[in-house]
Amino acid sequence: MDRLSSALSGPAPDADACRLGFIGAGRLAAALALALQRAGRPVGRVASRRHASAVAMARVLGPGCRAVDPQAVADDCDLVFITTPDAVIAEVAQGIAWRAGQWVVHCSGATPVSVLQPARQAGAAVGGFHPMQAFGADARAAADSLSGCTVAIESADPALQTVLWRLAARLGCQGIDLPPDARVRYHASGGYASQHVHALLADAVRLWQSWGATEQQAMDALLPLLRGTVASIAHSGVAAGMPGPVSRGDIGTVRQHRQALMALDPAMARLYDQLGARGVALARQAGRLDDAQAQAMLRLLEPPPPSA
Ligand SMILES: NC(=O)c1ccc[n+]([C@@H]2O[C@H](COP(=O)([O-])OP(=O)(O)OC[C@H]3O[C@@H](n4cnc5c(N)ncnc54)[C@H](OP(=O)(O)O)[C@@H]3O)[C@@H](O)[C@H]2O)c1
Repeated sequence: MDRLSSALSGPAPDADACRLGFIGAGRLAAALALALQRAGRPVGRVASRRHASAVAMARVLGPGCRAVDPQAVADDCDLVFITTPDAVIAEVAQGIAWRAGQWVVHCSGATPVSVLQPARQAGAAVGGFHPMQAFGADARAAADSLSGCTVAIESADPALQTVLWRLAARLGCQGIDLPPDARVRYHASGGYASQHVHALLADAVRLWQSWGATEQQAMDALLPLLRGTVASIAHSGVAAGMPGPVSRGDIGTVRQHRQALMALDPAMARLYDQLGARGVALARQAGRLDDAQAQAMLRLLEPPPPSA
């Protein structure tokens, strides 16, 4: 039986009845709380560093949610999500008088669950619930984006694990077990599919600006390409779906790209080379380059360092 089936078939430790609260009224909290509410699990209490942030989030959630101070969230709720920036989760957990039997969870990808030790020492069960998604400032759009994404769940407490798996299922998310020693690598993987894409697009926009085009013109051209790329990856996979001159073995075009980038910004050219070399490995994997083509491409992209 898989983890979700066993969570759904096992005893339900008040998974559907526990009172939910949030400490930290930011982007993730607004998205998650709204999605939980839509899924029939309303959030009753919210606190934040600035009371105004908690009030604003409670207003979005409606009359059933009250903005209170952090201790009142802990006092009035069975399951408390600490949704502050990663750097202050430990400090927030330390500053609250928790009670035995309570559930305390953070939503950080990279932060160990052990930062919730103060809650554990008070007899609470602790865990991690990290949705692999990027949430923007529009709470409703962010809540929409939760369905279908993966949520990494970690807890040593079987009852809390069951509750978190059930909540993930209610949200239409795919739960995964995350071993404690994998958190940082797991979180770094998200950077490749999100943050680094922004950095790469910023470089692409700079190329357009180098001949006087605007950022808007660049994005009008590049966003349809990005959407097509994502669709191709989803349809054909990372290796087989890869387009471009590296995967075609079009070495003359790659040489021209490198020369143009070197003239503009050598650091950009170095990154192009490194990404291109990884592309060679993918094209080999997809059977699109033979050994000779791959070696020729790598000689261009990974030239030996000049001898001293
Ligand atoms: N955003 C995402 O895409 C995303 C995705 C997955 C996971 N996460 C995780 O979710 C957590 C929150 O991230 P976020 O993006 O939502 O951050 P955020 O938008 O910056 O919100 C953090 C909130 O916490 C409040 N806060 C700061 N210090 C506090 C304190 N000492 N006590 C109480 N509240 C405090 C903030 O203060 P004010 O009261 O001043 O507003 C703010 O409203 C992080 O652990 C992050 O790793 C985020």
